[in-house]
Amino acid sequence: MEKTFKFSNTHHDLMARDARHVLGWRYEPRVMIKSGKGVKVFDVDGQEYFDMTSGMMCMVLGHSHPELVEAIKEQAELFTHESSWYSNPWLVEFAELIASTLPKGLEVVNFAVTGSEANEIAMRLALGVTGKYDIVTVLRGLHGGSLAVEALTSVGGARKANLGPLMIPAHRNVIYAPLCFRCPINLEYPSCAVACLDRSEEMMELVTSQEVAAILAETIPVSGGMIVPPKEWLPRLRDLATRWGAFLVLDEAQLAPAKTGRIWAFEHDGVVPDVVTFGKGMTAGMGIAGAVTTREIAEKARGKAGIPWGGTYSGDPLPAAVALRQLQIVIRDRLSERAARLGEIQKRRLEELKSRFEVIGDVRGKGLYHMLDIVESKSGKAPDFAMAERIRYNALLEGLMVIAVKNFVRICPPLIITEAELDDALGRLEVAVRRSMAGFPKDVDFSRSSSLAARHPLAARPA
Ligand SMILES: Cc1ncc(COP(=O)(O)O)c(C=O)c1O
Repeated sequence: MEKTFKFSNTHHDLMARDARHVLGWRYEPRVMIKSGKGVKVFDVDGQEYFDMTSGMMCMVLGHSHPELVEAIKEQAELFTHESSWYSNPWLVEFAELIASTLPKGLEVVNFAVTGSEANEIAMRLALGVTGKYDIVTVLRGLHGGSLAVEALTSVGGARKANLGPLMIPAHRNVIYAPLCFRCPINLEYPSCAVACLDRSEEMMELVTSQEVAAILAETIPVSGGMIVPPKEWLPRLRDLATRWGAFLVLDEAQLAPAKTGRIWAFEHDGVVPDVVTFGKGMTAGMGIAGAVTTREIAEKARGKAGIPWGGTYSGDPLPAAVALRQLQIVIRDRLSERAARLGEIQKRRLEELKSRFEVIGDVRGKGLYHMLDIVESKSGKAPDFAMAERIRYNALLEGLMVIAVKNFVRICPPLIITEAELDDALGRLEVAVRRSMAGFPKDVDFSRSSSLAARHPLAARPA
């Protein structure tokens, strides 16, 4: 049953050079990808893999989508970069199209390049308008890697080590995550009546300065465990923010567009945030992100806290034109509906795996974005980081890329995936889980793999 990677000498050589000269997060082995088509990517040896991570959760139309290739070529010949003191038609059209997908009023976009910057713009908007300072975030939320949003991130691991006082806002991470599978206050839904929010409000009162500028939350906290909140949670969070005179900022970098079965995940809950931020899936991998708000908020913030925010590349014509074309296709091809329909199949298949395998404690997600919660046993629910990493490794051996971070294995295929491809991919996942549970691979050191490169003692547990 043992199976090993068979890489060419050229591939091994590239891996060694990457290890020597490139400082980056890396899973093991450091596969070198050379091309992509649809839901698959191909390594330098021509080996193919289902890309169930959509790159970094960006490629909702898959790789080398013909219409996006065309858009990139056209734009490359015409105009790629400009001074951000001026604008361009593609950016205007993209902003208008984004506004047309959002509830009335959310219609002004401050563009950025990364999701981190987009969330920092949201913070600036909130600070500028309210004149207050505290930002409250949800435990297990991830909002980016630049320093201000790193401080608001609480997914654990070594990411904050040695950052000291630069991480001070982290002390204001005081909202419990609505993680019913491991309820933070040991109650059960629905009899709990979402008491985690009552406790959270109490903590806000005790911990913050009580001058809260914003509550910043992922609509579904993804990296921290694909925490799909109970239906009451987001409307009540909206209410909480309003009562405290704080902005509700929803970070949809992981979720928009269409992955959950709606263009914006918050549409499922019928709430309207004051600011919504986007990145990843809205970018087609091109580096264009942003924060969307109302004209009133934008005008009140103008000239304060660095609003409007701009950088060297924010709103460049090349990424704007490609992201615009992508969103037009997502809407034209009704990919929200497709994600909802195929998502049901994905969920059913994953639930079947859960019923068969002791290490799959829970399946959470919405639309075509799901996560397996890998546990030592179903009864104890103790997270099993090493098993999750084994599953990722074995999946790769089966020609399937999934994400493993801590004990979470994430499946996020491009929304153009066909039913047959989904079936094939999930069949490979099953093989991977079986082989992992049988104790394979035997002699691979995972300690440098990025998902295990955490300092939390749980990460060091043997498989
Ligand atoms: C929810 C969320 N927000 C923001 C970010 C940061 O985006 P970026 O890496 O583009 O800065 C991430 C990155 O993973 C994310 O998951």
